[in-house]
Amino acid sequence: MSTDSKTKKPLNSGKSYYVKSFGCQMNVYDGERMGEMLSDQGMQASETREDADLVVLNTCHIREKAAEKVYSDIGRLRRKDGSTPMIAVAGCVAQAEGQEISRRAPSVDIVVGPQAYHRLPELINTAKTGHKAIDTDMPPNSKFDVLPSRPKQPRPSAFLTVQEGCDKFCTYCVVPYTRGAEISRPWGEIVDEAKALVDGGVKEITLLGQNVNAWESEDDKGHRQGLDGLIRALDRIDGLERIRYTTSHPNDMTQGLIDAHSNVASLMPYLHLPVQSGSNRILKAMNRSHTVESYLEILERVRTARPDIALSGDFIVGFPGESDEDFEATLEVVRAANYSQAFSFKYSPRPGTPAADMDTQIAPEIMDERLQRLQALLNEQQFDFNRKLDGKNTRILLERQGKKDGQLVGKTPWLTSVHVIAPDAKIGDMLDVHIDSAGPNSLQGSLIRRKAA
Ligand code: SAH
Ligand code: SF4
Ligand code: F3S
Repeated sequence: MSTDSKTKKPLNSGKSYYVKSFGCQMNVYDGERMGEMLSDQGMQASETREDADLVVLNTCHIREKAAEKVYSDIGRLRRKDGSTPMIAVAGCVAQAEGQEISRRAPSVDIVVGPQAYHRLPELINTAKTGHKAIDTDMPPNSKFDVLPSRPKQPRPSAFLTVQEGCDKFCTYCVVPYTRGAEISRPWGEIVDEAKALVDGGVKEITLLGQNVNAWESEDDKGHRQGLDGLIRALDRIDGLERIRYTTSHPNDMTQGLIDAHSNVASLMPYLHLPVQSGSNRILKAMNRSHTVESYLEILERVRTARPDIALSGDFIVGFPGESDEDFEATLEVVRAANYSQAFSFKYSPRPGTPAADMDTQIAPEIMDERLQRLQALLNEQQFDFNRKLDGKNTRILLERQGKKDGQLVGKTPWLTSVHVIAPDAKIGDMLDVHIDSAGPNSLQGSLIRRKAA
């Protein structure tokens, strides 16, 4: 029995839920699908966690800080009168820690892994009886067979998970353990979901996967297709203006996908291709299975296919055994690659991963110093990239309201944010703008002329 069952509010259809997602875009996508499923069950989305009868914390386990955050968040759900909502911990911490979570935080009623959340309604029923409900099964692919189809949602941009899990086992990373083996969703399912999103008003779809470019499946005619084939099929959907994909692994970057960047009109000139380190010795210890040279050679082919491509990446500093020389090599690869944007992290030892047991862990102050130097260089490159757009004309997709009166914020094809005063425009419009000035993180633009949405 739950120790908290007496202070819990009963949960029924007609009650409200709040889903908070942390971590990567795939978690954001999962959080949306959980919400859609709960709505389908007759529950209502709540604006705030304070008013919700059920709070789902959709968690991330990638670094220690992210994983520990869930416990302080659970603590904050206790209300002034001592009661708590029904609490479900979903996502990668749920998968990694399982019932340990409800032992450490007894107010947690439900623990559900990323491949089992379609069973949330049954788990809620179990929790209603005062029992802890835990489901960290990994039934292959089945959640997508069970989840309700996507409701109409008038918004400009949406995520669509096409590939899940990872078989790469980089020695620092928890994803293969929390998300399971690499699987590709079937062709028809993805095309149908994309059409439903576009029907609802979506103009841009970002295809998601831990290794999205490893996606492969048969098309509707039984032909084997890679991600480029899928992108070409989605490009034919009327009303879908922009296609993006993330995250890609260098080893799965096929020439077909590179070529798609030169001849698929709706495929945006943006590539997130993490290298992690610029030292071959460290890449080997990370089990990355690519080298600095093979990475740079891919970039060369990508830039031949699409010279204006914006490149993004991920970096880890302070991986066990990383010497000053190894770190200098990382700065060197950054200079050679020239990023428009990038994410960089201090190495965080994760339980159960091989790197956590390596006896050459790096001191925190060395990591801090390296991260600062790396981020200074990456910020400089980002600002340079933004400055090159200054004075140019481009097309943006409006995504949200800005802070000023009549101001809207949209994205360029290269994923840079542009602030523009356009009182007659609305979210979801595509606008032609002139870039008037560039800042380190965004651009200022002015309207050239209004295009029909
Ligand atoms: N599948 C993607 C990204 C997965 S996780 C890829 O292979 O590139 C997102 C990023 O988190 C990784 O690219 C890596 O830079 C970072 N990351 C993963 N594990 C980490 C750890 N233990 N410590 C610090 N950063 C980590
Ligand atoms: Fe993690 Fe490596 Fe898989 Fe990316 S490729 S998810 S970093 S194990
Ligand atoms: Fe985090 Fe899981 Fe994504 S660990 S980064 S939420 S796959």
